[in-house]
Amino acid sequence: MKIKNICCIGAGYVGGPTMAVIAQKCPEINVTVVDINESRIAAWNDDDVNNIPIYEPGLSNIVGEARGRNLFFSTDVDAAIDQADMIFISVNTPTKTYGIGKGMAADLKFIELCARQIARVATTDKIVVEKSTLPVRTAEALRNILDNTGNGVKYQILSNPEFLAEGTAVDDLMDPDRVLIGGDIDTAEGAEAVEALVDVYAHWIDRDRILTTNVWSSELSKLTANAFLAQRVSSINSLSELCEKTGADVNEVAKAVGMDRRIGSKFLQSSVGFGGSCFQKDILNLVYIAKSYGLNEVADYWEQVIIMNDHQKRRFAANIVKTLFNTVSGKKIGILGWAFKKDTNDTRESAAIYVVDYLLNEQAEVVVYDPKVKPEQIYADLDYLNTRPEAENRASVTIVDNSHEVAEKAHAVAVLTEWDEFIELDWSKVYDDMLKPAFLFDGRRLLNRAEKEQIGFEFYAIGS
Ligand code: NAD
Ligand code: UDX
Repeated sequence: MKIKNICCIGAGYVGGPTMAVIAQKCPEINVTVVDINESRIAAWNDDDVNNIPIYEPGLSNIVGEARGRNLFFSTDVDAAIDQADMIFISVNTPTKTYGIGKGMAADLKFIELCARQIARVATTDKIVVEKSTLPVRTAEALRNILDNTGNGVKYQILSNPEFLAEGTAVDDLMDPDRVLIGGDIDTAEGAEAVEALVDVYAHWIDRDRILTTNVWSSELSKLTANAFLAQRVSSINSLSELCEKTGADVNEVAKAVGMDRRIGSKFLQSSVGFGGSCFQKDILNLVYIAKSYGLNEVADYWEQVIIMNDHQKRRFAANIVKTLFNTVSGKKIGILGWAFKKDTNDTRESAAIYVVDYLLNEQAEVVVYDPKVKPEQIYADLDYLNTRPEAENRASVTIVDNSHEVAEKAHAVAVLTEWDEFIELDWSKVYDDMLKPAFLFDGRRLLNRAEKEQIGFEFYAIGS
């Protein structure tokens, strides 16, 4: 079976880049990405490709090449469902903020709405692909909804989790370590559906890197991969605190440990704490699933990864207060970086939000600069925590459009995102512009200690 028309529900950080790459690599397939968010779709369709809503290196070129040829962005969800042979569901699956499982379980209401919409609209057989990250056995619920319409339309449900990381989405999609496709491989129809999706990816990915499994393994592998990655960051971050007490240096420890090929060197970069839309939500989801099966030890084991991460963010902020003679009240603290990592404009769960919230509770005056994050997003992130009235966030936080304004008469500067441009800053000028003693806190181990101390900074870096 050859796929001619793909529809993707959800034009976000996953749906947008993934479909742009499929469209570029498969010119004979029409790809329509739909979303209920009208302004997001308008931005994807902006005449100037630099205004697309998601910043990812290399993405605007790909969108520029394929858009209008075989890549379309639309708000007409029904029409796209109707025309498609294959429908990707790539909507958000945030942590529940209400009811049973609040603060832990994945909120699947957007997924269910998609399934109900497909069931209502479809008149021809469809392959439905779970692209969103979902709790294991979600496909069962989708099947229940889709198979109960009584209109004779047949569905195959596949799980095809996305492993791209933000900031490197295009490279990750072009050259993935593996593509995972879970399906009902024991039946002829299921195997045919899996093969149809394998054919799409085989346009640019070697078949031996396209892994096929049963649906449940595929769903669970995605949560497992994120849990393992986040666990490495929490593991090294837990040791960063011990390094600070003992004179060891966390970078040296990470290098020595990571050169053991059984361990490997990736994801051992100590930081102010991991952020992003995935790690915390997916681990909490895993913890909730384990608890719901009564597996309390399993749940506790993984929950510790989150507890460690919360501790790392808090202790970084607490250290700023302690170092500044136990008070930051009325003091100006400059923040470099708001995104949860470099090369993205995404701020979901960014450590910066929590560090600044802590400093605001201590009555600091905060000034923020990030090269890609819009000011309204920074205020929205703080407002979302609901710690204080919105007006107070605006009164205490100033957002500027260059690094040097951050330093102007600041008592301290903290680097919270590892943007390359912060390495290249004129740090002597930063020092001159600050009040003395000039405290510099490196939450990313981005900066060279000897150089900064030479300039005159009181320098603190996580993990040494
Ligand atoms: P996102 O919030 O950026 O995008 C989701 C989009 O879906 C939004 O634009 C929203 O308006 C739209 N949407 C929601 N309900 C809809 C509906 N009923 N009809 C049409 N559109 C609807 O989210 P994201 O970061 O792209 O993540 C999507 C999924 O992919 C999540 O499950 C996430 O866990 C997973 N994932 C994310 C990443 C990542 O790095 N962001 C990586 C791998 C997997
Ligand atoms: C993650 C997974 O890597 C990706 O495979 C999955 O599909 C989605 O979730 P993402 O959240 O985009 O991707 O970014 P990632 O590079 O994993 O970084 C997550 C957080 O961990 C960031 O805040 C990053 O700064 C932090 N991190 C990462 C560290 O602090 N140290 C490291 O060594 C690596």
